[in-house]
Amino acid sequence: MNKVGLVGWRGMVGSVLMQRMVEEGDFAHIEPVYFSTSAAGGKAPVFGGKEASLPLQDASNVDMIRQMDIVITCQGGDYTKAVYPQLRAAGWTGHWIDAASALRMENNAVIVLDPVNMNVIKDALVKGGRDWIGGNCTVSLMLMGLGGLFKQDLVEWVSAMTYQAASGAGAQNMRELLSQMGVLHDTVKAELADPASAILDIDRKVAEAMRSADFPVKNFRGVPLAGSLIPWIDIPVDNGQSKEEWKGGAECNKILGRPAFRSAGSIPIDGLCVRIGAMRCHSQGLTIKLRKDVPLDEVSDIIAKANDWVKVVPNQREISERELTPTAVTGTLTVPVGRLHKMAMGPEYLGAFTVGDQLLWGAAEPLRRMLRILLD
Ligand code: HSE
Repeated sequence: MNKVGLVGWRGMVGSVLMQRMVEEGDFAHIEPVYFSTSAAGGKAPVFGGKEASLPLQDASNVDMIRQMDIVITCQGGDYTKAVYPQLRAAGWTGHWIDAASALRMENNAVIVLDPVNMNVIKDALVKGGRDWIGGNCTVSLMLMGLGGLFKQDLVEWVSAMTYQAASGAGAQNMRELLSQMGVLHDTVKAELADPASAILDIDRKVAEAMRSADFPVKNFRGVPLAGSLIPWIDIPVDNGQSKEEWKGGAECNKILGRPAFRSAGSIPIDGLCVRIGAMRCHSQGLTIKLRKDVPLDEVSDIIAKANDWVKVVPNQREISERELTPTAVTGTLTVPVGRLHKMAMGPEYLGAFTVGDQLLWGAAEPLRRMLRILLD
């Protein structure tokens, strides 16, 4: 049985990964070895009813990690940068499955999203590929939704306007968002209880609270999210883009096995990435330029048949309000795509809206599925 080293299993993405591996019975197929950056020697956890044969191992002990056939890490990019090069330099030929972005754009790394790019994964396996990296959440979720259109090479370009959840910024940010909501509610609790109070007084007090020096904003770089939004995600890169926006083009093309972003044959993908006050579902408003005028029912069919998780939501008000939202999708693997309509710019311009769980298809799920591909 393959020895699988699990690193970063205690964090938010790692916990979702463990939960999904339990649900899918993955532990029955592996010999798990749990690594820790802080509690080596401690008792290993038990997931899926499977006792680990070893206690917690030191996550920086390259000699120990070298004994693994497969490593899955959700420990983050700093860990990858510190440990991965040492492992390969020491001649380790095992498979490295990683949630962090550190290795994503390396030539020998495949960004894994098998319902979309199984062909790319299989080609790499045949060629001896050993580095399997989860994609950026927004990118993976868009491709889970629109994979069918890309597969049929119907997409000339995409503009993605994102509405990204707090979870993408981290567990502490989710807590801070809720703290902010609580503070805002507390600020106007008395007025809310009084139906005769003036809404503009409530609004003024809320704005004052959001702007006050006491508002809990440490994790969101000093600015409120609750009652507001943040129109910038990650560091600036070139061309006025944020890194999150750059990833859209760079990673989508790589996942699809197309030429590098901005080179001939690649698909231009760009947009604006915005943080909003959702908990763990990223949403995206998409403008898609099709290569030709494809009838809407065909478009809908192509999208719906692309994989087992995408679901087309009819472009009607009530069902969109109910089913095309973070509230409906959170904690599920379903990726609804809706608001499908031809736009005023012309019959090749398609409008769409999609929602997906940032921690499932956006992070943990592609990793555990890659593990199963390696084990099969
Ligand atoms: N970078 C993403 C975000 C999450 O900030 O929402 C990780 O893919």
